[in-house]
Amino acid sequence: MGSLSDGVAAGAPGTAPLIDLAALAEGGLAEVQARLGEDEESLILHRCGDAVHAWINVCPHAGRRLDWAPGQFLKSREGHLVCAVHGAAFGLPGGVCVAGPCRGDALRPVAVEVRDGQVWLAAARLTSRTSG
Ligand code: FES
Repeated sequence: MGSLSDGVAAGAPGTAPLIDLAALAEGGLAEVQARLGEDEESLILHRCGDAVHAWINVCPHAGRRLDWAPGQFLKSREGHLVCAVHGAAFGLPGGVCVAGPCRGDALRPVAVEVRDGQVWLAAARLTSRTSG
């Protein structure tokens, strides 16, 4: 069993999971709000088997949200996450832009973990942005 780190308090201290794993279909995407440090952020969640990946919901191209409405994401025929603003396509689960105006840039990952059928912020440190 892990515990939430001191650096990231999700709402009331130490308590709220981000989402039930069962609420995410295989390959599915969801948007949740989470408190990272002092900031409330929109996160993109993506399920891949029993693992879940998460990124800040900010496109590296122009700093806009990727969803066209809260929690409504576009996917390409190839299964890429497509930014609704200018069409950058991000590979899943890597989060790196494979086509579009910010090719080679990456979404900013957030460490999450699955425990007891729920998705939590991991010992939650933001990992550094990959620049390209
Ligand atoms: S803001 Fe996402 S492609 Fe431009």
